[in-house]
Amino acid sequence: MERMTVQTQPIEGQKPGTSGLRKKTRVFMGPHYLENFVQAIWEGIGGAAGKTFVLGGDGRYFNDRAAQVILRMAAAAGAGKMIVGQGALLSTPAASHLIRKRGTDGGIVMSASHNPGGPEEDFGIKFNMPNGGPAPEEVTNRIFAATKTVTSYDIVEAQDVDLSTVGVTRLGEMEVEVVDPVADYAALMEELFDFDAIRGLLAGGFRIAFDAMHAVTGPYATEILERRLGAAPGSVRNAVPSSDFGGGHPDPNPIWAKELVDLVMGEGAPDFAAASDGDGDRNMILGKGVYVTPSDSLAVLAANAHLAPGYAKGLAGVARSMPTSRALDRVAAAKGLDVYETPTGWKFFGNLLDAGRITLCGEESAGTGSDHVREKDGLWAVLLWLNVLAVRRESVAEIMAAHWREFGRNYYSRHDYEGVDAGRAEEMMAALRAAAPGMAGNVVGGRKIAQADDFAYDDPVDGSRSEHQGMRIVFEDGARIVFRLSGTGTVGATLRVYLEDVETDPAKMGRDAQEALAPMIAAAEEIAGIRAHTGRDVPDVKT
Ligand code: G1P
Ligand code: ZN
Repeated sequence: MERMTVQTQPIEGQKPGTSGLRKKTRVFMGPHYLENFVQAIWEGIGGAAGKTFVLGGDGRYFNDRAAQVILRMAAAAGAGKMIVGQGALLSTPAASHLIRKRGTDGGIVMSASHNPGGPEEDFGIKFNMPNGGPAPEEVTNRIFAATKTVTSYDIVEAQDVDLSTVGVTRLGEMEVEVVDPVADYAALMEELFDFDAIRGLLAGGFRIAFDAMHAVTGPYATEILERRLGAAPGSVRNAVPSSDFGGGHPDPNPIWAKELVDLVMGEGAPDFAAASDGDGDRNMILGKGVYVTPSDSLAVLAANAHLAPGYAKGLAGVARSMPTSRALDRVAAAKGLDVYETPTGWKFFGNLLDAGRITLCGEESAGTGSDHVREKDGLWAVLLWLNVLAVRRESVAEIMAAHWREFGRNYYSRHDYEGVDAGRAEEMMAALRAAAPGMAGNVVGGRKIAQADDFAYDDPVDGSRSEHQGMRIVFEDGARIVFRLSGTGTVGATLRVYLEDVETDPAKMGRDAQEALAPMIAAAEEIAGIRAHTGRDVPDVKT
């Protein structure tokens, strides 16, 4: 086997975003593109020599080819061992678990999450640390710096490694262990949740539907929900991962998982339904006739987690990303829990989880998780919900209504404007930033602004500071609008407008969210001039 050094030169734009490097698949397949970035990862983490890494991805187009390149480069860089999911598959949470369980030096996850896959769609690579969590900015900055100076990379010349069978092989000096991608993860879920109770619930005629959206959670959900918990065969839909996710967006929200939403809103609806995204870290929760917003789901899980064996001793604290609704804060206040507000992106929860300051955390973008891994975890959220339902024996709708009565309801919605001209979007944000210091005291739509700022986060564990994390406009009555630009998009800019209003009158808690938020939607336009800046009348997506 020959080790080669290939001459290359820096390629522009290899800056990791909210969650690793994401680009069009064709870009990733371009000459040296993947190789340069992998070489930069080795440099950013202080070399690969002698190290053990986990490798897997969500099965999207190019996943298998990229895995072979990464293996050949790891062998050339002197890595001691690679633990690879069979078929180069691993959900993001399963990869996080494997990294931790095996005490490795980290892992590479191939995914563009909920973005579509295929030759004309998206691909991505992210590096996770030995704690199982996404690389922090300090590391991704080093990786980015290395992409700007790379002049060569090392790779061995070899046949493809057989990743189709579980077992141990070698690639030159490097050991390659191919593992069942589901087994360890399923075992962890059995430790955390009362599988007997859930089995009992399902055996009693409680019907569920899980949409794997042709993505990586198919095999996980089939094994756990159908085989181990006894859900009726076919409860897991779109269960076979395909390289283009069946031509759809593997994004579990009411737009892209509309079929599932229609199912629960229609006749003969199942009692509970859920979906997950491309790499299995996101979740959408539905009940008969109800859609549970991710922010509400986080709050409900925080209020009920103690009903599951893994969390019976209570929570150390909780955290949410800044744009996530403050429904969680209400639960934390009632229970006397610390609540942390972090910038968008799971990586900011890592330190809090590692330090034992929080047990549970989540984001409005359909991400919920706990200290069991260092990524958000779609199936975990589904199983915690099922555990809660099995103990409480109430419907999802009843649980939501009781939750709002007890804690109040935070009406919430996110409006996305996609593919906006990047320059114009930046201009809008700059204008908001300039205006913010003078906004407090202004009255918009009859409500007084209490605070307006550009969110900055001081990490209480390592003292690092992250600035420009979104513009927050908070009203005196608790309503709130947040503006930020996406850090994961691949075309132009995506403007996200997060709208929130608080309702404590039980008589007014059953309204449609868009309707209830109409005054905040108007206020957002008045404050930011979205139409004038973006040229758009309506958002592309409302979640
Ligand atoms: C989006 C979500 C964010 C999530 C990230 C990765 O990032 O908003 O909550 O952590 O995807 O799944 P954004 O595009 O907003 O930067
Ligand atoms: Zn994802």
